[in-house]
Amino acid sequence: MTETSELQGFYRLPMEKRREILKKATNLTDEEAGIIANTGSLPGDVADHMIENVVGGYTYPLGIATNFKINGKDYLVPMALEEPSVVAAASNAAKMARSKDGFRVTNTGPVMIGQIQVVSVPKPEEAKSKLLKSKADILKKANEQDPMLVSLGGGAKDLNVKVLASLKGPMVIAELIVNTGDAMGANAVNTMAEAVAPMVEQITGGRVFLRIISNLADRRLVRATAVFGKDSIGGEDVVDGIVYAYAFADADPYRCATHNKGIMNGVIAVGIACGQDIRALEAGAHSYASKTGRYKPLTTWEKNKEGDLVGVLEMPMAVGLVGGAAKTHPTARANIKILGVKSAIELAEVMGAVGLAQNFAALRALASEGIQRGHMKLHSRNVAISAGATGELVDLVAQRMIEEKKIRFDRAKELVTELSKQKMG
Ligand code: MEV
Repeated sequence: MTETSELQGFYRLPMEKRREILKKATNLTDEEAGIIANTGSLPGDVADHMIENVVGGYTYPLGIATNFKINGKDYLVPMALEEPSVVAAASNAAKMARSKDGFRVTNTGPVMIGQIQVVSVPKPEEAKSKLLKSKADILKKANEQDPMLVSLGGGAKDLNVKVLASLKGPMVIAELIVNTGDAMGANAVNTMAEAVAPMVEQITGGRVFLRIISNLADRRLVRATAVFGKDSIGGEDVVDGIVYAYAFADADPYRCATHNKGIMNGVIAVGIACGQDIRALEAGAHSYASKTGRYKPLTTWEKNKEGDLVGVLEMPMAVGLVGGAAKTHPTARANIKILGVKSAIELAEVMGAVGLAQNFAALRALASEGIQRGHMKLHSRNVAISAGATGELVDLVAQRMIEEKKIRFDRAKELVTELSKQKMG
């Protein structure tokens, strides 16, 4: 704990100096300070320029999900996350999907929305018509901000205008519809929204406040489908169990949150590995899930007439290959190479397939043996490691805890002592 969090001029200091101050203020040991200092594959100066007040780095394990066949092409999928079982589950699900055709994914193109909020508009409906009449000029102004994007076929393509009833009375919202190409697009869209704001004020006679991208990226959807042959997933009973699980999520937001969380286990892990804005992905996913006014699953599951299981995932997937950490983080660049995707929409499609695979794996486990058995195996290894087990002791301690059904830190500690003595003796 620190005595004060007011660290004057902290941001201006070099990274080492910041770390020294932090170390002193929070009583870090030399070892702890050294751990924090490690920026891993990210060169220190790159890290220092990515965010503010940088003191070091933080590393996740990177796993590779195997077996993915998406639109007829094979992919090795890098996943960075802390949760055991996710990579194994994705690989397993992808293997089962291969018994039919793997995953088929389509997308609606890389289209984002930039919102310009206009308040105190004397005549909102009239302002709306005027804005729409000035569409060509507004789009021209927007596109002047990013000639590169325009030259690649992207740019502001359309303008929507809506009048919203709000807590503060009616407001006019102008929406730029922007094809962001291979970029996630937040920078491009925000720059465009800011650039057209004075024009929008002048046309409407109102006052612009917010000029910002919407993370409800419902024009940038992926739709992944897969058929899982009943025989390859454990029979018709498993198919029924998964369909019931889906019906549960559809009927109950408490279950639905967890259902969608399972999807995001996969999506976010690939997102982190590939340097994506995962907060935007989460925001897009959950707002899309609530679009009807009720929170709904991002997937649907049904049994076809052959008795096989058919899954469909539909969700926004705002990802990019140019700009941001996808370009600046060396591990993200290497991961994108491993994945072999050549465009942002291809990356989005892969992530949609992984989300569907992850959801399938979770529901299959839940509808049959439950998830704890698989989880516990990995969890017990983690507990063993945190209790000081190394080398072959990790598996020995983990195995004993599973047998005893006591996967606890205190027991792991006892076992580390006991089993290491046995090993030495
Ligand atoms: C755990 O991270 C994810 C699950 O809870 C997803 C689900 O319940 O569908 C297993």
